[in-house]
Amino acid sequence: MRNLVIAGNWKMNGSQTFAQEMREALDNAEFSERITTVVFPPFLAIHTMLGSDKFAVGAQNCYTEQSGAYTGEVSPELIADAGCQYVLVGHSERRTLLGETDQVVAKKVKLAVSAGLTPVLCVGETLDERESGNFKDVVEQQVVAGLKELSGDEVKQVVVAYEPVWAIGTGKTASADQAQEVHAHIRSVLNSAFDGAGDAISILYGGSVKSENAAELLGCADIDGGLIGGASLNSKEFITICRIAA
Ligand code: G3H
Repeated sequence: MRNLVIAGNWKMNGSQTFAQEMREALDNAEFSERITTVVFPPFLAIHTMLGSDKFAVGAQNCYTEQSGAYTGEVSPELIADAGCQYVLVGHSERRTLLGETDQVVAKKVKLAVSAGLTPVLCVGETLDERESGNFKDVVEQQVVAGLKELSGDEVKQVVVAYEPVWAIGTGKTASADQAQEVHAHIRSVLNSAFDGAGDAISILYGGSVKSENAAELLGCADIDGGLIGGASLNSKEFITICRIAA
């Protein structure tokens, strides 16, 4: 049985006041025991969200080394030491805006697992790649490259998030059929490349998920939850999506 995960990625949003209000709202919400709820606040709001028995906390990024003279960076070890359980790796905004390569992503995934974190490996094709028809190859390459430094056992500690770049923050969502097609492909790639591990790995969908489309997307056989951006900034909306999930 795969873990059902609803995760909220606040991106570069989340003042101290916002985090306190969100903390109160999530602490007072009732979540089904069938889902794992995770929030990814910006680094400076993580401390406000830690320690709840309702949800887990993750960082939106980590560095490719565990310690040392890397001014401004935060390592997986420090993220784990602070009390986080998750870290996002390879989000398309980092790949596109900050030049994060598959090689960098693979290193971060490896170090995150070594630090005891669950990395959420984000993959997804651009609009051009979707329209050219080779989107499944693009996603497959990102998955295999991102996990290439892990052993067979370590791979099972990872969560994958499929986020078509053309659906992120655009209001355009992949249809349930489009999302399911790619999720099934990712699972089959994970199964063949990592000795059946795909059946144990949660694969989340991300890209303009909101309460209106959550049921259809989360109802797909190979969609094991969602990575929610914009809609996770509204506590009522985020809690509603969690309820729809389970
Ligand atoms: O990490 C979350 C994704 O980038 C989705 O963002 O829900 O605002 O489209 P969005």
